[in-house]
Amino acid sequence: PNRDSSNITWHPSLTRHERNQLRGQRGFTVWFTGLSASGKSTVATALEQHLLHIGVAAYRLDGDNVRFGLNKDLGFSEKDRNENIRRIAEVAKLFADASTIALTSFISPYRADRQIARDLHASASQANDDPLPFIEVFVDVPLEEAEKRDPKGLYKKARAGEIKDFTGISAPYEAPEAPEITIRTDLLSVEECVRKIVEYLAEKGLIN
Ligand code: PPS
Repeated sequence: PNRDSSNITWHPSLTRHERNQLRGQRGFTVWFTGLSASGKSTVATALEQHLLHIGVAAYRLDGDNVRFGLNKDLGFSEKDRNENIRRIAEVAKLFADASTIALTSFISPYRADRQIARDLHASASQANDDPLPFIEVFVDVPLEEAEKRDPKGLYKKARAGEIKDFTGISAPYEAPEAPEITIRTDLLSVEECVRKIVEYLAEKGLIN
C-alpha cells in the first residue's frame, strides 16, 4: 500500500467549511413545522428521496426514529415538547455539521422552540466555523382540512376528549411569522411542494 503521507496535512480539527469542501456538499437543516396531518412527513420524505436521487446526502428525522428511540421518555406536555424539539435541533445540527442535509418533520408547535433550533444552527462550534443554514418550512393547511384528513383518527379522539393536549384542538399551534418557505399542501401536489423547496435551495446556492 502507498503509505506516502507527505501530501496529507493533519488538522487539529476540521472546520465546517473544510468538511463541506472534502465532502463536496454543504450541510444544513430544513425544518418542517405544521399541524398533525398537515403533510410534513409526506413532503419531507419526497424531498429526501429527491435529494438522494440527485446524489445529495439527506436524512429525515421524524417521530418514527426519534420518539421511539432518543425521545421515548417524552410525551406531549408543553415541557416534553420543548425538550423533544431541543434534542431534535441538536441532532439536526450534528447531521448538518457532518455535511448532510437534515430534514426534520415534527409539529414543533412553539415559536420559541423553533427559534432555539434556529439560533443553535447560527452559533458556530469553532471560532472560524460558518453558521449552518436553517430553512423553516411552514406546512400550512387549515385546521379543518387536517381534521378532515385525520389519517390516524387522532382528531376524532381529541374532539371526544380521549387525547388531551392535542395540537390545534386542546393545545396550541403557533404558526411561523417569517418562515423561509410556506407550502399549502391542500392547494399544491406533493411534487409541486418539493419543487418549491428545491428551487429555493438552488436559488440560495445550497444545492446545485
Ligand atoms: S411535537 O409537538 O413536535 O413535539 O410533536 P411530534 O414529535 O411531531 O409528534 C406528533 C405526532 O404524535 C402523535 N400525537 C400527537 N400529536 C399532537 N398532540 C398530541 N397530544 C399527540 N399525541 C400523539 C401524532 O400522530 C403526531 O403525528 P403527525 O405525523 O404530526 O400527525
